[in-house]
Amino acid sequence: MHELKFDFNNMFNFNVGDAHGVAEDEITALSSSIANAHRHLQSVLSNPSSRVAVNMEWAVLPLQDKKSIRAIQVVGEDIAYKYESVLSLGIGGSYLGLKSAQDALLSPYYNEFKAARGNRAKIYFEGNNLDPTPLAVLLKNLNPKKTYVIVISKSGETTETKAVFEVVENWLKKSIGPKYGRSIFAITDPRSGSLRQRVEVEQRKDPLSFRSLPLLKGVGGRYSEFNMGLLHLAIAGIKIDDVLAGARAMSERCSVADLYKNPAYLYAVLHYLAYTKKGKSIGILMPFSEGLKSTADWYCQLLAESLGKKYERKIRVLAKGIEEWGEDPERIVNVGRTPVATRGTADLHSIQQNNVEGQNNKTITMIRVERFKSDIKVPKSSGILSQKSFGELLKLAQEATEWALVRDRRPNCTVSIPELNPYTWGALLYFFEMATAFEGELLNVNAFDQPGVESYKNYMYFKLAKPGIPRAIADEIKNHPVKRDAKYIL
Ligand code: PA5
Repeated sequence: MHELKFDFNNMFNFNVGDAHGVAEDEITALSSSIANAHRHLQSVLSNPSSRVAVNMEWAVLPLQDKKSIRAIQVVGEDIAYKYESVLSLGIGGSYLGLKSAQDALLSPYYNEFKAARGNRAKIYFEGNNLDPTPLAVLLKNLNPKKTYVIVISKSGETTETKAVFEVVENWLKKSIGPKYGRSIFAITDPRSGSLRQRVEVEQRKDPLSFRSLPLLKGVGGRYSEFNMGLLHLAIAGIKIDDVLAGARAMSERCSVADLYKNPAYLYAVLHYLAYTKKGKSIGILMPFSEGLKSTADWYCQLLAESLGKKYERKIRVLAKGIEEWGEDPERIVNVGRTPVATRGTADLHSIQQNNVEGQNNKTITMIRVERFKSDIKVPKSSGILSQKSFGELLKLAQEATEWALVRDRRPNCTVSIPELNPYTWGALLYFFEMATAFEGELLNVNAFDQPGVESYKNYMYFKLAKPGIPRAIADEIKNHPVKRDAKYIL
């Protein structure tokens, strides 16, 4: 059995009490909203133009055609053995999905041990922070002649990625000379943005330089792992088909109307009710697996950017029923649960204290892995731990955490994964994506934009004097300075 199992019992009142747990009646009372949300999502998904217009094309990525997947797999294999290192540059949705795959699917210590990575290129990530320290160390130690660079930016404009790419480009150029562009692969929008323009200019000069994979239309950064992450998977030797098969199976489970057969819908409904009726505004994700810690980081971006919204959604229906989603400036809602990424068992010795005894304002989603590929047993004569496998102990720790949470009436649920592999990881990502989309429907917010992220970007562009900043944005920045009283600066 490959399939993921979802246990929602501890989200209910019969385990954690009426003040904290959802009652079946509360779900029944929501049934027409649930049915409407299902109908609405299905109608958007069944209309290809709406799918693109509202940025829901991610939902059909598991159905990508096998020929293009094979082509990416071939390019990845070639890079993996031709180069010593691969440097992937990107931030947010152009980084977190790849990092999630790297930690979940590749061997631990992949870069440290040649055997662990089957002689493939090492893979490093940069551009996900403006802290110069790691980049400086990396560029001092990597050999530019043996490094392949993948720059990923959907917009092609993001400051972090741009700044790092400029530095890395110079570093390559200095050592390789005019043909340095052959060591660069760009993943960006098919038409717009300065990175796309750059690709076109460079390819006209030398078609082997700045090879590129256009991102699909209608797929936002944080929902794009099954698109922009594919080359990374191929370089690492992961079978993309297996990842997509898992996501596809999950997409089938998550498209049925029946709440009690659709784990994404039930997850969304229970968390929506826990949030709106029981004051559970924090969503803690706690995988009991070292490999899934970056998946928890990926999920933080997914939840925070998708549902943390100031305005209610405004739907415009155009000709042929094509939908466009925006925000309704007259309806301020300021909603969204706050995600927190943790990991078992490490955080049982820190955050768990607050989970059990602190303010009862959170839900905890645990992820449990049933079988580990390489398990280890504690030697005989080690007292109560004798002959226990780490996998067994880890599962016991998860069970104990569940008990402690229920005992103190803390709503929680558990996702069980038979084994962490490309199939189950693909399924897990798709599950969270659909659950987030459905929760967005219930909250009536646009889960596929991120205007709150744009405001900091605009401030930086303004200060950096980027040409073409709209007047309204420039004025807003000029007219709203942060007040600083010297008395409060110590
Ligand atoms: O989800 C999103 O769209 C954002 O978080 C982006 O991924 C992030 O801002 C990086 O943008 P870009 O890929 O355009 O460089």
